[in-house]
Amino acid sequence: MDLGLKDKVVLITGGSKGIGLACARAFASEGAKVAIVSRDPANLARAYEQLKQEGLHVHRTRADLHESHSAAEIVEEVSTAVGPIDVLINSAGAARRYDPETLDADAFRATMEAKYFPYIYPQQEVLRRMAERAKSGQGGAPGTIVNIIGMGGKIASDIHIAGGAANAALMLATVGLAHYYARYGIRINAINPGSTLTERVEEAVKLEASQQGIDSADALARGQAKVPLGRYAKPEEIADVALFLASSRASYVTGAIVPMDGGSAPLI
Ligand SMILES: NC(=O)c1ccc[n+]([C@@H]2O[C@H](COP(=O)([O-])OP(=O)(O)OC[C@H]3O[C@@H](n4cnc5c(N)ncnc54)[C@H](OP(=O)(O)O)[C@@H]3O)[C@@H](O)[C@H]2O)c1
Repeated sequence: MDLGLKDKVVLITGGSKGIGLACARAFASEGAKVAIVSRDPANLARAYEQLKQEGLHVHRTRADLHESHSAAEIVEEVSTAVGPIDVLINSAGAARRYDPETLDADAFRATMEAKYFPYIYPQQEVLRRMAERAKSGQGGAPGTIVNIIGMGGKIASDIHIAGGAANAALMLATVGLAHYYARYGIRINAINPGSTLTERVEEAVKLEASQQGIDSADALARGQAKVPLGRYAKPEEIADVALFLASSRASYVTGAIVPMDGGSAPLI
């Protein structure tokens, strides 16, 4: 199936690890021109080399997206070095878990800075440019955004209230902006992963194992047994859906929030 992604310029925030890295691999394999962004140069170099060994090339840029000016800088840099951005995949961020009794206003603010704003800053910068392109009639498809958010924004969990609130806010921003920017042909969608086997989740499983005095394999098996599909997602499964949502095959899909939790939350 031709996804129409060849030569598209794809900016992937958080592209050095986990779901973002799986997206970088998937889009580059489709012949897209991929740029990845994260904070740590060592993570970027590791991802770059890994993909190079697989015969894939990506442009890499260091930035901390919790700083508002970073988004404008990286979008400008990527637009100059690679080309005007056709696709933005937002996957940079992670919210800390808090005991609800230690959850103060500072923790809520820190969580918004760790998860909400690193999505909002690049999204607003890319949207502004995509809309300008559409208004100037420069031609070509106007562009599309996929936000990797999280099921924690749909179901409150005692230890993930601040992170869940950031995710819920990102969902509202996704559907609201999709509604407005559809007039320019710009599509915005989101994926809500459940537990997905990235390094971050593997670390959390190790921690849980040590707290329970069991080994990591047992802790992982217990966690996975709670999922109706019987296992956690693989990052490449999330990337496949991001690929589809960003592709011309999803040309009439906008404002959609796709749950990918293995059937865990029977919600409409
Ligand atoms: N894995 C799951 O089970 C799961 C479930 C639901 C939702 N999600 C969401 O999906 C997204 C990706 O998760 P993941 O598991 O792939 O995470 P991950 O493996 O920890 O990767 C996160 C990526 O974001 C980068 N990053 C983090 N903060 C950043 C910042 N302020 N500026 C720039 N880059 C930043 C990291 O690189 P550097 O450290 O080099 O910056 C890394 O490349 C996250 O928003 C997460 O909340 C994940």
